Amino acid sequence: MAVHFDNSRAQLTLRRMESADFDAVIENETRSYQFPWTRGIFADCLRTGHECWVLEDSGEVIGHGVLSLVAGEAHLLNVCIRRDLQGNGHGRGLVRHMLDTARLREAEVVFLEVRPSNRAACQLYESLGFNEIGRRKDYYPSVNGHEDAKVLALQLRLDAQ
Ligand SMILES: CC(C)(COP(=O)(O)OP(=O)(O)OC[C@H]1O[C@@H](n2cnc3c(N)ncnc32)[C@H](O)[C@@H]1OP(=O)(O)O)[C@@H](O)C(=O)NCCC(=O)NCCS
Repeated sequence: MAVHFDNSRAQLTLRRMESADFDAVIENETRSYQFPWTRGIFADCLRTGHECWVLEDSGEVIGHGVLSLVAGEAHLLNVCIRRDLQGNGHGRGLVRHMLDTARLREAEVVFLEVRPSNRAACQLYESLGFNEIGRRKDYYPSVNGHEDAKVLALQLRLDAQ
């Protein structure tokens, strides 16, 4: 099922990721992250049954999101918008869609990790109501060794669907 994405641009569509999308997904991932996920990680996510979505503009994959769901808890594992298209509201729309997906799957809470240095992502998540609930020491690789992760959580109101 494809979901049309309201960003005042009718060509935008959200649909489930397929292995045929991996080339485009990896290209966007590699351009947007210093430490990108590999093809094998995305393949595992599909195999495991995670919610894996792509955002398309006129048939071209311009973003992706991955959410895991276990026992009423969702974990937003990846959100990525093609580098040259960032800052146009696509990330906000994609994260909102992943939160709607978590609600539909009856999750009560969504967790995620984010680099404190990732200002855009931190601001996006905070503006959507995520709160910091802790830190994971040396969670991420970085050019200087490691960087801590902020752990954020958002309680979902099931009656807000
Ligand atoms: C983080 C990311 C998904 C955001 O997507 P985006 O399409 O660029 O963001 P949007 O245009 O939807 O902006 C959403 C909000 O993010 C914040 N934001 C976006 N760009 C920003 C910037 N350059 N500086 C500060 N805040 C910024 C703002 O709060 C913005 O809301 P506003 O426009 O109402 O002020 C995207 O930048 C990205 O793919 N980054 C690389 C991968 C990544 O870091 N993913 C997150 C891992 S936890």
